[in-house]
Amino acid sequence: MARTPFIAGNWKLNNDHMEATHTVQKLAWLLRDAKHDFSEVEAAVLPSFTSIRSVQTLVDADSLELKYGAQDISAHTSGAYTGEVSGPMLAALGVSYVAVGHSERRQFHAETDEVVAAKVKAAFEAGIVPIVCVGEGLDIRKAGDQVPYTLAQVDGALEGLDAEKAAQVVIAYEPVWAIGTGEVATPEDAQEVCGAIRGRLVELYSQEVADAVRIQYGGSVKSGNIASIMAQPDVDGALVGGASLDPEEFAKIVRFKAHAA
Ligand code: 13P
Repeated sequence: MARTPFIAGNWKLNNDHMEATHTVQKLAWLLRDAKHDFSEVEAAVLPSFTSIRSVQTLVDADSLELKYGAQDISAHTSGAYTGEVSGPMLAALGVSYVAVGHSERRQFHAETDEVVAAKVKAAFEAGIVPIVCVGEGLDIRKAGDQVPYTLAQVDGALEGLDAEKAAQVVIAYEPVWAIGTGEVATPEDAQEVCGAIRGRLVELYSQEVADAVRIQYGGSVKSGNIASIMAQPDVDGALVGGASLDPEEFAKIVRFKAHAA
């Protein structure tokens, strides 16, 4: 079963709503000029909550094929949870994806595997596909424990999820030591863990589910390294941080097939 490659730009805490509009306009022009086929490589941006409405307006007005998503979601639907943004609120903005359990949320907001699992469920309840982020820190990598560590995060995030939903999940393997450091994992490093994640999906669910799930690599992805990472059999896309803020660079990453040859 062929998996459509999926490149997503996680803007993190960047781009207010006006900057978001300019960035998406430029990205859309670049991809249109290049006649990018979105059915061949899917592309999405994940703006801040305050920029999502502007991106939605632009995508709707120009009938863009670019998808968009959020960087976080509340585990709760409504109620006394000051500062939270719920799945139904995001769904009302036409959001397709939401990043869940990014290492920066785990590190700075104490998100545990239990919280991540609750957010995965909240996303599905709202009809939004979660991009579940997993990956080890430098100490774990140095100890050679990246595979069991990351698989335990996968187990935790998918806890209680049925096979039908699991097949739709996107998993982003982002080794923390490669995020924003310029130190990209080698394609072999990425394949080792992404392949192990797919193997775990076979164990947890079935070969069919494992074959359907798209697994992204994230960590210092740029136009110069994307093609070799995408050449790995179990890497189906990328979750791009810093390089996604520059529309020209991000368009090149989305168009990795064009400059892979
Ligand atoms: P960088 O691409 O800036 O390393 O960030 C990766 C990331 O965390 C994407 O979610």
